[in-house]
Amino acid sequence: KIIPIIMAGGKGTRLWPLSRSTAPKQFMELTGERTLFQRTLGRVADRDLYEAPIVLTNAEFRFLVAEQARQLDCPLARILLEPVARSTAPALAVAAVVVARDFGDQAVMQVLASDHEIVADATYFGCVARAREAAKAGRLVTFGITPTEPATGYGYIETGAPLDGGAFAVKRFIEKPQREKAEQMIAAGGHLWNSGMFMLPVGPFLKELRELAPEVLDAATRAVAGARHDLDFERLDPDAFAAAPDISIDYAIFEKTPIAAVVPAAIEWSDLGSWDAVWKLGSRDEAGNVAEGRTTLLDTCNSLVLSKDIHVAVQGLSDIAVIASEDAVYVGRLEDSQNVGKLVKHLASME
Ligand code: GDD
Ligand code: MG
Repeated sequence: KIIPIIMAGGKGTRLWPLSRSTAPKQFMELTGERTLFQRTLGRVADRDLYEAPIVLTNAEFRFLVAEQARQLDCPLARILLEPVARSTAPALAVAAVVVARDFGDQAVMQVLASDHEIVADATYFGCVARAREAAKAGRLVTFGITPTEPATGYGYIETGAPLDGGAFAVKRFIEKPQREKAEQMIAAGGHLWNSGMFMLPVGPFLKELRELAPEVLDAATRAVAGARHDLDFERLDPDAFAAAPDISIDYAIFEKTPIAAVVPAAIEWSDLGSWDAVWKLGSRDEAGNVAEGRTTLLDTCNSLVLSKDIHVAVQGLSDIAVIASEDAVYVGRLEDSQNVGKLVKHLASME
């Protein structure tokens, strides 16, 4: 069976001020019922195909994870707690060490981000099956999405030669390119977006970590060795984990490894990572506006305006985001949505 690894430790800063460090987006009901985290659990609920999920998250979010899984009656195999945020490479190294220990080197794990909107239909599960085959053949597999615009918030995959079973070799992996580079890749064709979901054979993955990111693997190994139980949680050794470099799996492994493969996935997928993505996925009126809550728009177009409590009125503007939470308001251009994380860092430095 596949071992599901759910990454739920991101802070979702690009969705400030609705996504806050106390309750980031994966735990919010952004669109419809159930949170993105809960819907992610739903995609691995088939116990014939999947083992019980392992969740990796920041210690701060432990009760959100436990409570939201309980609401679904979804037993979790483990909830591993990171004492500090070190991005996805250390978290996935921890997952690999734990899975190798419990299931052996032959195990295959599927890594799922908890901030995506995905329709888990037959097409999706067909891709999962293909990815699993390629992983069993020793490849680190990503799921590739057909790009629709030169977005700068994603990883880009240049596809190479076809492999057995419907996967392709990865010629190059470019994480979060500059705008110009993204435009070139779209124009050139032959590129896919990295969906942020992976199928990883544990043995080969650990080997790549050892070679390409030894400090990450070393910290993860020691963090697991020194982990201690606390109620339903496992707290990773704080000093050992904190020694890990702050780096995502995309930069640490996928930009460098020669054994990556991609399964092109014609699935309905959206990373609800930034305000422009929320705008695109929302139901737009004739003027191209997505407005929710107490809002009034006049002579305004192609904008996203969200407000739960206070009344927000926008006049004579276009292509902007106005997001009001209880205690903060964000105003910016939709095309600058990827920069909101910078603003949040700036705010934190002012505190
Ligand atoms: N446990 C844990 N610890 N999870 C984390 C951490 C961490 O420190 N940081 C992020 N995550 C989780 C997030 O909650 C999310 O579910 C997932 O890991 C991906 O992190 P993001 O921060 O959302 O990454 P991204 O969107 O900027 O980029 C990734 O996803 C894109 C597609 O959505 C990359 O893989 C890109 O290449 C990809 O295109
Ligand atoms: Mg994301």
